[in-house]
Amino acid sequence: MTTTTVTEREIREAVTMKEAIDAVRDGFIDLAGGMFEMPTRIALNDGQFLVMATRHRPTSSAMIKTLSVNFRRTPAITGIVVWSEAGRPDQLVADAGPVTALRTGAVVGVATDLLAAPQADRLTLIGAGGQAPDQVRAVHAVRPLRRLTVVDTDPRRARTLLQTLETELAGVDLDTATDADHAVSEADIVCCATPATQPLFQASALPARVHVNAIGAFRPTMRELPDDLLADSRVVIDELDAVLQESGEIIHALEAGAITQDSLAELGHALTGPPVPHGGRTVFKTVGVATQDWAVARLLADKFLH
Ligand SMILES: NC(=O)c1ccc[n+]([C@@H]2O[C@H](COP(=O)([O-])OP(=O)(O)OC[C@H]3O[C@@H](n4cnc5c(N)ncnc54)[C@H](O)[C@@H]3O)[C@@H](O)[C@H]2O)c1
Repeated sequence: MTTTTVTEREIREAVTMKEAIDAVRDGFIDLAGGMFEMPTRIALNDGQFLVMATRHRPTSSAMIKTLSVNFRRTPAITGIVVWSEAGRPDQLVADAGPVTALRTGAVVGVATDLLAAPQADRLTLIGAGGQAPDQVRAVHAVRPLRRLTVVDTDPRRARTLLQTLETELAGVDLDTATDADHAVSEADIVCCATPATQPLFQASALPARVHVNAIGAFRPTMRELPDDLLADSRVVIDELDAVLQESGEIIHALEAGAITQDSLAELGHALTGPPVPHGGRTVFKTVGVATQDWAVARLLADKFLH
């Protein structure tokens, strides 16, 4: 067995956020075009262990990822990504922590670029954990920021995040806050990245024109967004089968009758369909799909395997 192993430092040096955003955008366009074989992921013990797999038909390449998830541990998410191509016997194995953070940031970058107002430059981020830096980097890559406000139930984590990003965000006003309702009331873009089980803010606290990304909930019992926000917004999701199985907020809003399934637009179709009209509130809900990991793994294979 020949395996090339790629570490966190190598991943970070090899792939910029801009490259990840472009690769993930192309991946979702291919997904909409039926070019991926992608079963919904396996979740063991209610999401403590996850197994995700996909095959890209045109290139006969496959990505398989296993994750271990524990929010009482740092990092909360660990695992491995395995990249294989039908035509070659060797494989690439990459640290799934940074691949997951990069690809989750990247899909938020794709959605924010599609849905946020062109002049949007004030971001409120709720949840300052492992995913947070790449959420900010991705938004900043598509909508250069003037202000970043970070909310976390643990204020030390919010401050640590700002210290981590200080150099990359030179010239951006950086602030922490404890009142999520107030913090989102002054945002053009909101990113939610917590394992919360109740909505993080009230829909009425948001401005009339805002784009909200929610990455945190990945089990039916988890929820970051209120039903009335989903009812009142243009809602784009990563993939229908995945959110119907895993997104607590979509499942809750459907069961409450706040939204209907046909009001949900998949990202790949939104990217390839008629231009999305600007205005009002928009939401992007992602539970994370294997296409994203495939897209980043492909960039790594191009750099380390070929
Ligand atoms: N959609 C996806 O593709 C995707 C990918 C990776 C992670 N996730 C999910 O995103 C979430 C965050 O992941 P992470 O790795 O950053 O976790 P983490 O444990 O490193 O960080 C979570 C942060 O949220 C904060 N927090 C918890 N509840 C809060 C609340 N009610 N209000 C404000 N802050 C709160 C915690 O203090 C912590 O700082 C998890 O639920 C994870 O499963 C989703």
